[in-house]
Amino acid sequence: MKLSNGLALNAHPSGRHFLQIPGPTNVPDRILRAMDYPTIDHRGPEFGRLGGSVLRGLREIFRTRAPVVIYPASGTGAWEAALVNTLSPGDTVLMCETGHFATLWKKMAERLGLVVEFVAGDWRHAADPATIERMLVDDAQRRYRAVCVVHNETATGVTSDVAAIRRAIDAAGHPALLLVDTISSLGSVDYRHDEWGVDVTVAGSQKGLMLPPGLSFNAVSAKALEASRQAKLPRSYWDWHDHIAANERGYFPYTPATNLLYGLHEAIAMLLEEGLANVFARHERHAAAARAAVRGWGLEILCADPQRYSPALTAVLMPEGHSADAFRKVALERFNLSLGQGLSKVADKVFRIGHLGDFNDLTLMATLSGIEMSLGLAGVPHRAGGVQAAMESLVASGAGD
Ligand SMILES: Cc1ncc(COP(=O)(O)O)c(C=O)c1O
Repeated sequence: MKLSNGLALNAHPSGRHFLQIPGPTNVPDRILRAMDYPTIDHRGPEFGRLGGSVLRGLREIFRTRAPVVIYPASGTGAWEAALVNTLSPGDTVLMCETGHFATLWKKMAERLGLVVEFVAGDWRHAADPATIERMLVDDAQRRYRAVCVVHNETATGVTSDVAAIRRAIDAAGHPALLLVDTISSLGSVDYRHDEWGVDVTVAGSQKGLMLPPGLSFNAVSAKALEASRQAKLPRSYWDWHDHIAANERGYFPYTPATNLLYGLHEAIAMLLEEGLANVFARHERHAAAARAAVRGWGLEILCADPQRYSPALTAVLMPEGHSADAFRKVALERFNLSLGQGLSKVADKVFRIGHLGDFNDLTLMATLSGIEMSLGLAGVPHRAGGVQAAMESLVASGAGD
């Protein structure tokens, strides 16, 4: 595609680009079509019906009866909203170093004037419920106001067990709020806001929801809403109460991202038509086949705990002395295939295969074929047979949809 200013966005002449990074994910045609309507008056009656419908539908996706607030912002905005609505300057929060995104959320909390106790991690394991329980039991003063966890660490392909973390907080009898980032899990990994007693769920549009970037969400428990009445961190744009009041009639406190909401309406319909249980099973099945390929190549999966493998993405360690970025360059230039890069601590050491969102057996097989060919072209030592192993896994695990 060439823009009027001469900038070439895509030098590849034919075929579709394979966007197999772990988000933004491929936007299905059905959603693209749905967004291709004229923008309407965001204070008019038609908009109220659209707003009401997406706000109701979102509750099913988050599995909650609580309000879900929608921001015209990327996921980072919803992270900030979760913190500034519930906490006060100087409050202490417990966070777990699962990877790059947990580290960014921690930095944000510190910038906002919170004190963070960061449980160190090796970027290969999930947040540990036993450690959280011990720290909460030891917290006789009840200093921790919140426990903040990234459900699916997009940088590492490790999924933490939110239900177990809830049980740990309950076992310690601690009143801390539970704040969970589901930016790369909502709509692709089983998640239950109410059942797991989460106080604020943070999510974004551009991954499991199959939308372009630009929307983010906070699902808000009654306890979190109560905490927000005392919370003193400065906030205006992010304030939940303005949203919840306007949302009652399907409207927003400021100009909403109308066309993204058209897309969200369609995304919710698609997820509910497929059935959330089927959506999650589909992701598990593709993840298992992707891992079969990685093992077939003789490469190492970054996640060191098989119980906590991510259904949404797989991060793969490069053999010592080989550059993940040089390999990804070959995949992009030769096969028009984008793979996720390693972030911060694991930069150039891993590549990430996104297998989430609008994705089927052949999307996976094409992606894995591109990887196997690129490993060869880039001179990365590996065994042949990863693609074959993935095919066998898919055939053995039943229907493709
Ligand atoms: C788990 C997680 N949290 C937070 C973010 C930040 O979201 P955004 O880049 O949309 O601001 C991302 C982005 O990929 C993410 O994967």
